[in-house]
Amino acid sequence: MPSKQILATAEQLEQITTALAQKISAAYRNRRNAAAVVMLEGARRFASDLLAKLDFPMDAVYVKASSYYGGTISTGLVRIEGPQDLPERIRGNNILLIDDIYDTGRTMAAMLARLSEYHPESIKTCVLLEKNVPHIQNIPLDFIGLTVEDAFIVGYGLDYNGSCRELPYIAALSGVPAAEM
Ligand code: IMP
Ligand code: MG
Repeated sequence: MPSKQILATAEQLEQITTALAQKISAAYRNRRNAAAVVMLEGARRFASDLLAKLDFPMDAVYVKASSYYGGTISTGLVRIEGPQDLPERIRGNNILLIDDIYDTGRTMAAMLARLSEYHPESIKTCVLLEKNVPHIQNIPLDFIGLTVEDAFIVGYGLDYNGSCRELPYIAALSGVPAAEM
């Protein structure tokens, strides 16, 4: 079993989400019709803590974007599954796209391309973590919680083959085979 190095404690995550919520509240203060698009499963926990801290209510739409089919190998394929009314929930709205981690950038790029087809008023992007690696798809990130070094990250919603998702902190796994990163 790989060993873990803690990168952000539960208390630090609390501070990170509070600071992000203040910035997002300020950025959306004068906008109407805001909606969050939350990428499942990884971003569910982060997004629920974050959205609860905004100083105005923001509806959330949950979308499943899967690029990892078992293990930690990215196939470069992004499959997007959302509710049937996703186009209507995007059209004309100011969208905040929320993911757990930005690694190759393929997931966010694929989601941005898809959401743009539905004619939002605007889209901003928010990630809890940005991996400090050369990204394959570079998209503008508007709100970033924390930058982490190149490692496989777990906890606070992020999983390794379905485990470690419920940890209250963020940790880097070491001992994950390099071929799986
Ligand atoms: P990207 O498309 O390579 O940017 O990867 C983003 C998606 O892959 C995220 O939504 C995560 O679900 C997953 N992912 C990427 N890196 C990690 C990691 O280190 N730990 C857990 N999940 C990850
Ligand atoms: Mg994901």
